Amino acid sequence: MHLIIAANSETFSKLAADFVEQRVTDRPNLCLGTVTGASPEGMYRELARRHAENGLDFSEVRTINTDEYLGLPGTHPQSYRFYLEQKFFRPCGIPSSHTAVPSGTAEDTLKECARYEAFCRAHPADLQILGIGHTGHIGFNEPEDCFADKTHIVDLQQETIDANSVYFSGGEDVPTQAITVGIGTLMQAKEILLLICGASKAEVTYKLLCGPVTPKVPGTILRFHRNVTAIIDEEAIALVRERAPEVLQEYASGEK
Ligand code: GLP
Repeated sequence: MHLIIAANSETFSKLAADFVEQRVTDRPNLCLGTVTGASPEGMYRELARRHAENGLDFSEVRTINTDEYLGLPGTHPQSYRFYLEQKFFRPCGIPSSHTAVPSGTAEDTLKECARYEAFCRAHPADLQILGIGHTGHIGFNEPEDCFADKTHIVDLQQETIDANSVYFSGGEDVPTQAITVGIGTLMQAKEILLLICGASKAEVTYKLLCGPVTPKVPGTILRFHRNVTAIIDEEAIALVRERAPEVLQEYASGEK
């Protein structure tokens, strides 16, 4: 895993945008695995600015998102389809027909899982962007006894529901289930860009880089992927610096 440490949130988002810009420039019809959440927001904003001001072209890019809340239609303001349309697809000129997000309202959820899985396998991501949740989830793959291979329905952990509840105001029910691509689906990506920022991610970042590779912290599987770059800000890397500076050294020298 290649680590890039960002001094602050502005640098974090710029470095992430630089990374994506380079890949899109090299391959205009890139298949891009997208993710939602707070971590990539600044990057999407910066990419939108570069599209508007510098003509960064996304018109041939295809996207596949990792997950969607079960029960929310794509028109719901907290759905991941809505987030992506607002923050990435429209501001960057990506036609909806080039984008894929699992349906949270399919009548037959198992059929939807199979459909989405087949789609992902037919269009493996050239670059998969990921964040990590407090429980160590990637996509919405929560801690389990074994790594989930394919697209499936997941029961969200209470810690995840609590973290997501800040986005649901006015007494709305926070979804407790989601449809997510599997770990096996994610590991098919040719390249992965992992974005981690903020003090609340310091503990999980420590587990990610220094703990055992285990389905109890699903993101640790990324250490077995051969082409991962993690952009981590100073707040998130703080515990690793404090408790295991030698591990940072090993990552820097390419030993890990
Ligand atoms: C969310 C998403 C994930 C995301 C993660 C971290 O709930 N389902 O795909 O990567 O949790 O989100 P954030 O960046 O807001 O911490």
